[in-house]
Amino acid sequence: MKVDVLLGLQWGDEGKGKVVDVLTPKYDVVTRFQGGPNAGHTLEFEGQKYVLRSIPSGIFQGGKMNIIGNGVVLDPVLFRQEAESLAASGHELSKQLCISKKAHLIMPTHRMLDAAYEAAKGDAKIGTTGKGIGPTYTDKVSRNGLRVGDILHNFQEKYCLAKKKHEAILRALNYTYDITELEKEWFDAIEYLKRFQLIDSEHVINNLLKSGKSVLAEGAQGTMLDVDFGSYPFVTSSNTICAGACTGLGVAPRNIGEVYGIFKAYCTRVGAGPFPTELFDETGEKICQLGHEYGAVTGRKRRCGWIDLVALKYAIMINGVSQLIMMKSDVLDGFDTIKACVAYKINGQETEEFPFDICEGAEPVYVEMPGWKTDMTKMTSEDEFPEEFNAYVSFLEEELGVPVKIVSVGPDREQTIIRYED
Ligand code: GDP
Ligand code: IMO
Ligand code: MG
Repeated sequence: MKVDVLLGLQWGDEGKGKVVDVLTPKYDVVTRFQGGPNAGHTLEFEGQKYVLRSIPSGIFQGGKMNIIGNGVVLDPVLFRQEAESLAASGHELSKQLCISKKAHLIMPTHRMLDAAYEAAKGDAKIGTTGKGIGPTYTDKVSRNGLRVGDILHNFQEKYCLAKKKHEAILRALNYTYDITELEKEWFDAIEYLKRFQLIDSEHVINNLLKSGKSVLAEGAQGTMLDVDFGSYPFVTSSNTICAGACTGLGVAPRNIGEVYGIFKAYCTRVGAGPFPTELFDETGEKICQLGHEYGAVTGRKRRCGWIDLVALKYAIMINGVSQLIMMKSDVLDGFDTIKACVAYKINGQETEEFPFDICEGAEPVYVEMPGWKTDMTKMTSEDEFPEEFNAYVSFLEEELGVPVKIVSVGPDREQTIIRYED
C-alpha cells in the first residue's frame, strides 16, 4: 500500500482536521508528519467540538492507530494538556497513539527564544504562534536538538547542555524570563510521555505498508507557509508540502499515493505577511464573521479575502495534488457575487506565475461570478447544489486542472458531500 497525503494549499486553517476525521474510516493508520502545536485542527461531531494540536485527527474514529511522526516537534506540556483533556472527555489514547522517537522536543527555552526573536524583529515580526516552533527546528537542523527517544537515557545531561546554549542567546538578546514553573511542568510532562508507545516510526510505518495497511498522512499549516516555497520569510519552519511527508515519516516518494489538496472557497491568513487577495472592506469583514475566522489556538482574528488561483495552482504543482477538497462553501452562501483571482499584476505586467518575492506586492486580477444565494448547510448530495455553485466548482476544476472530490458545507462531520468515490 501507499501513503495518501492530505495537506493545506493556502495559509493554513483550511479545515484539515475535519476532513481527516471524515476520511479516517477508510484508513488503518493516521499520522502527522510535520509542525507541532502551532497547528489547531478543529473537529465537530455529535454536538461536540475538539481542537487538536499535535495529536492526529484520526483519533476519534474507532480505535485506529495514530502516529506522531519524526518530522513533528512536540511540546510535552501542551501534548499532555491535549491528551488529558481528551481522556477527560472519554477518549483515552495511550493504546491508540504512538510517538516517533525521532520527533524533536520543544523545550521551555525554545518558547522564550521564539518570543525573543519576534521582539528583536520589531515591525518585521512574523506573528508566530509563540510555541517555539522556529527555534526547535533551528536546533534540529543545527544538530543541537533533543529528541523524544533521548528521554530514555541520560536525559538531564542533554537537556542542561541544550538549555545552556539557549540561555546564552537569550542573554545576548537582553530577554528576561522566568521558566521555573514551566520547567517543572515540562519535566513532569516528560515522565507522562513515557506511558505512550515511543517507536521507531519509520520501521513501523513501512512494515504496516508492506503488510497491506493503508496510511493517511495529515499535513499541518499550508503550502503557502512552507519554509521553502511559502511567502518567505513569513512562513513556518517546516516543509508543509507533500515532500515533507516523505522526510517526516521516512516513506519513499514512490510510496506516496493520493495527494488530497484542501482549500477554502475563499482565503484566509493569520499572522503577518503578504496576502494579495486580502479584503479590507465590509466584504472581508462579512467573510470573517460568517466563517468565524478566529484562530483555533491563538484566537487571533484571521485576515480574509477572495480565493487566489495563482497561489493555488502553484501549491497544486509543488504538491502533485491529485484530488481537491473545497471547504467552507456555505460561508459564501449569501453573496451576490463571488470573485476569484486569476492573475497578478506586478510592476504593470500580468502574470499567472507565483513570483519569487510575493512580499514585494502583487495586485490581484479578478473574474467575477454570480453567487448562489442559497443555504447549502443542510444539503447532503450534490444533486441539490444550486446551478451557480456548480458553475463555481466547474470553473475551479477547469482553472486548476484537478477534480474537486469533496465539498464541505458546514463544520460538522456530517456536513460533507463526497462527489465521487475513488
Ligand atoms: P485546520 O487547521 O486546517 O484543521 O482548520 P481549523 O480547524 O484551524 O479551521 C477551520 C475552521 O472552519 C474550524 O473552526 C472548523 O470547525 C470550521 N469548518 C471546517 N469546515 C467547515 C465548513 O465547511 N463550513 C464552515 N462554516 N466551517 C467549517
Ligand atoms: P494549522 O495546522 C494558520 C502561521 C503563524 C505565523 C507563521 C509562523 O492549524 O493550519 P510558527 O508559530 O509556525 O513559527 O508561525 O505561521 N501558522 C499558522 N497559520 N494555521 C496554522 O496551522 C499555522 N501554524 C503556523 O500564524 O504567521
Ligand atoms: Mg488550524
